[in-house]
Order: sequence, then C-alpha cells, then structure tokens
Amino acid sequence: MNQIGLIGLAVMGQNLARNFANRGIKTVVYNRTTAKMEEFIAEFGGENLSGESGLETFVRSLERPRKIILMVQAGKAVDAVIDSLLPHLQTGDIIIDGGNSHYPDTRRRKEDLAAREFHFIGCGISGGEEGALNGPSLMPGGDKLAVDNILPLLQQIAARDFNGGPCVTNVGPDGSGHFVKMVHNGIEYAVMQVLAEAYDLLRAQGKEPPQIAEVFAGWNQGKLASFLVELASTILRKADDQGDGYLIDRIVDAAGQKGTGRWTVVDAMTRGVAMPTITAAVDARIFSAQRGLRTELEDAVAPAREAPESTPEDLEKAVYLAILAAYSEGFQLISTAAEEEDWEIDRSELARIWQGGCIIRAELLTFLQESFAKNDTSKPLIALPQIAQQVQAGLPHLRGSIIDAATVGIPVPGLAAALMHLEQMTRARGSANFIQGLRDAFGAHTFQRLDRPGTFHAEWSE
Ligand code: 6PG
Repeated sequence: MNQIGLIGLAVMGQNLARNFANRGIKTVVYNRTTAKMEEFIAEFGGENLSGESGLETFVRSLERPRKIILMVQAGKAVDAVIDSLLPHLQTGDIIIDGGNSHYPDTRRRKEDLAAREFHFIGCGISGGEEGALNGPSLMPGGDKLAVDNILPLLQQIAARDFNGGPCVTNVGPDGSGHFVKMVHNGIEYAVMQVLAEAYDLLRAQGKEPPQIAEVFAGWNQGKLASFLVELASTILRKADDQGDGYLIDRIVDAAGQKGTGRWTVVDAMTRGVAMPTITAAVDARIFSAQRGLRTELEDAVAPAREAPESTPEDLEKAVYLAILAAYSEGFQLISTAAEEEDWEIDRSELARIWQGGCIIRAELLTFLQESFAKNDTSKPLIALPQIAQQVQAGLPHLRGSIIDAATVGIPVPGLAAALMHLEQMTRARGSANFIQGLRDAFGAHTFQRLDRPGTFHAEWSE
C-alpha cells in the first residue's frame, strides 16, 4: 500500500512527490491530464513512486487513514479536486492542501470536511521548486490529531534547521498553517523590496551589476546572511545571453504578484496591526506594474536626480534594520491573529522552521528563535531587549540612507516605511494629541488628559 497520495503534477507537485519517494516513502500520484502523469512516471517512477489514472484506484491504493496532498492552484481548483475525491474517501481520511490557499478558504474547507468526518490540513510549503525536491519548510495547520498523524512523513521530507532539526512543526489548529505561510510571504515581499532599493541606490552610483553582486556577497558573510541575499549576488552576475551586458539590466521593472503579500496587508488592516514596511513592499509592486504611466509622468515632471552617496556599509545596516522591522510586523500580525483566533502559535518555533528550505531563510532567524524563546510575551519583536540595542545601533544608518536617497530623488519606500515604523514606535510623545483635539473640536469625540484621569470634552470655539 502507498503511504501518501499526491494530486497535481505541476513542478512543485512533481518535486514534492519525488522528495517523498526519495526518502523511501511509498508515493502514488494522480493528475487530471493522464498523459502528464504517465510522462512523469516514465521519467521518475520506481519502487516508491507510481501513478494512477483513475481517482478511485488512486485512493484505493493508499493505506488508511489515507493521506492525500493536493498540489493544485489555489482557488476553485482546490474545491473541485476535493469534490471529486469525496465519493472515494472513508471516515478519518486526511486531505492536505499544500498550495498557497487563502486561510479563510482553508477554514471553510476544514469545516465542510469535518462535518463529513474527514480531516483537512492547510499546509504552507515554502522553498520553490528546489525546496520541494530537496527539503522545503512546511507549515501544517489543522486538527491536532491529523497533523500529528502526518508529521512523521513531513519530518522526513523537510529541510533542516540550523541545529539539524526538521523544518516542520504543528503550527496550530484551523487555517493557521496557511495563515503563517501568508505572513511568511508578506515578509518575503518586504525583504525583496529593501534589497531592491539597496541595489537601486548602488546602481545609481554607477556600480556595475557584478560590483553590486560583490557587495551582496559581502553582506552574505555578515548579519544579513540569507538565501535572498545570496540569490541577489547570483542574479546580478548573470550575463545577458541575448546581447551584451547583464541580464538584470534588460528585465522590465514591473513586479508580478499572486496575492499573498496583499492578503497579509489586508488581514493586518482588518486586525488593526500596522505593517508599514510590508505594505510599502506591496504598494511598490503596484506602482512598478504601472510602467507606462510612470514613463509618462517622468517626462511630464522631469524630477532632477543625482547620484546617491550611501556607502555599502551604511546600506547594509539600513537594510538589516528594515528587515528587522518587517519581521516585527509579520510576527506581530501572527501574535494578534493567534490571540484573536485562539491558535496558540509558538513564534520561536516559526523562527526555527523558517531556518531551512524557505525563501526567507536567514541567519537572523537563530537570533529571533532565541529572543522569542526567552521572552514569552506578545510584545512586538522590536520591543524585546536584545532587539532594542540593534534598533539603537542601526537607526543613524537607516536615517542616513533615506536622507541620501531623498536628496537625490530615488524612491526607497521599504526603507522609509521601516524607518517611520521605528521612529513612531520609539517616540513616547507623538502628535496624536493634535488629532484628538481636532476630533473633539469637530465631533465631540472626547480626549484624555496627561495630568488627570477621566474623559474630557472642551468647548473649543471662543
Ligand atoms: C515560497 C514562495 C512562493 C510564492 C512565490 C511567488 O515560499 O516558496 O513564497 O510560495 O508563490 O514567492 O509569490 P508572488 O508571485 O506573490 O511574488
């Protein structure tokens, strides 16, 4: 009997199936287009990897309770596959959605399936094609029993953390697995944005892509060591195989997005969690996509631009602090949601399972894992004592880089938003007394006083 079934043989599905089989886990695959399944099995099939052309035989070939992982496009396709599977399942079977599904959908599916006595797990999977094959970071959430049931299989295919442990944990109940994957992607957007801004500033100084690659390679030896910084060097070194120069200079500056970053921001807004850095990253992608309009407006406004002067050393510190701000925002959303939804998510565990396989894997996560473990509070990351020192040390560099960028007219929305996050949260007395005064003056919304308790309203007009 097969131990796991996988439906959906796009690249991620193929690689995940091969990963299971490579670890000696008997795996059966199914794909709506049979020819694709046959092609895949002809190339990679073997003792541990087989295919079925019918759903019924696919399901019957699995040991019970059946564990079926769906690797189909998030959205309607997931519902369609579940519907087609249902007639073949038996009580207690477990369906695992490994796509980037929106967690409210996961919640709905879980409830529908629970009513029929099936289990449903929403499992965030990060790591792209390479991770799926060699070890992704896995974020399963759902009924505890069902997650515990599949955990041993997931532990075998997962990437390893910095201490050799598997990058998988039982995230929590309900849609919490897909929720944390969504937030992971929000952080991913912000990290990429601030790296892009550093690249932009260095490029505007006249540095060639391989020189910037060197800068990133240097950063990858320090506090910024991470998969994305390493990958930044790789993409900057790539020569253009269709002409002179470097490929990066020929790529259209309009970023795509599938929606997970935007969902993160919308969710944060709904829960009243501020996430300026991640929001700026989503906004920047939106602006980037308006290329025609940007070109028109550059002609119309003709803003003066000069070469910036920030040094790689300043930028490294600025980028590090902005990334800390983005992590703080993401983890704050996770803490708030966990409290509101009664999910009990262990932030230290998340910082651990993101150390390997996933797109935001970074050295910094060791420090975050330790900080969260030591400080069992729902306070934001930047409020933890170990982080406060880093904020203090990094602020002058973040401020300096932004002054430089603003002086020469280069937009750095991610860095600037991170700075504004940190400036607002490290300023005891802000300007909202003024807002309160206005609110009370036009609508008798009342205010509180610094010098005495109670709620007050003033007669503002003379
Ligand atoms: C991962 C990634 C992945 C995501 C891509 C593209 O963790 O492996 O987050 O799940 O689909 O990064 O996302 P966008 O198209 O929205 O940039």
